[in-house]
Amino acid sequence: MPLDNCVAFVTGANRGVGECFVHMLLNSGAKKVYAGARNIDALRFADDRIVPVELDITDESQVKQAAALASDTTLLINNAGLNCVEPALAASDMNAARTEMEVNYFGTLNMIRAFAPAFPAGSAIVNLHSILARVTLPSMASLCASKAASLRMTEGVRAELKPRGIRVISVLPGAIDTDMSRDFPPPKLPAIEVVKAALSALDDDTNEVYVGAMAQEIAAGLARDRHAIQSSLAGTI
Ligand SMILES: NC(=O)c1ccc[n+]([C@@H]2O[C@H](COP(=O)([O-])OP(=O)(O)OC[C@H]3O[C@@H](n4cnc5c(N)ncnc54)[C@H](OP(=O)(O)O)[C@@H]3O)[C@@H](O)[C@H]2O)c1
Repeated sequence: MPLDNCVAFVTGANRGVGECFVHMLLNSGAKKVYAGARNIDALRFADDRIVPVELDITDESQVKQAAALASDTTLLINNAGLNCVEPALAASDMNAARTEMEVNYFGTLNMIRAFAPAFPAGSAIVNLHSILARVTLPSMASLCASKAASLRMTEGVRAELKPRGIRVISVLPGAIDTDMSRDFPPPKLPAIEVVKAALSALDDDTNEVYVGAMAQEIAAGLARDRHAIQSSLAGTI
């Protein structure tokens, strides 16, 4: 999919990977970029191709309004996400588990259901998951469950949209150097590396993009011996 002259919509565009997506799309010649943010005052772009859109992806009516406003979108980047860094049992209540599922799974599904009906053939959707969609780190088990749910949902959406000529790409990075991973130890991927890998997949037939050595090694390990990989991560509790 050529990026020059495309019309893109990026969720969570005010910081981190989302902000980096917007810059890369603008630099690649996008005609227009809708920048979704819960607080549009936090958007830091000075380019008249940017259309700020107030958007909480868990708010169904806001999502519907965004889809109506941005009905010319042909590239949807579902970047917004949340990690509460909570284990499954030791968490004091169910709030983190519910919120992560609400944002990472239902919010992403909400966006796709609102935008996909108007997409012409040749459009594409890029969903930001994580390598933790494929394995469980016990210290953030509820995040892993929500990303796994989102990855499974994406496989269903991909199958449903394929006959209409719409690509759906899953991006599974390791740790990225943004606010979300502020307290994690290195190594962490620069956001730009994730964005470049995600957008390059639009030019080939890759459905799942594993970004960085950590994600690629885990994916290869899962293919060889899923039990061994999961056991070694279970030992990190
Ligand atoms: N950082 C990592 O190590 C890492 C690794 C693998 C995958 N990822 C995934 O990469 C994506 C981008 O993360 P990041 O590293 O850029 O994190 P980040 O710096 O924490 O940014 C998260 C973005 O998502 C937005 N967001 C959260 N909940 C939202 C909601 N309900 N509606 C709309 N926007 C919402 C945030 O908006 P506010 O500013 O309003 O909070 C913010 O713009 C996420 O899907 C994340 O799960 C991150």
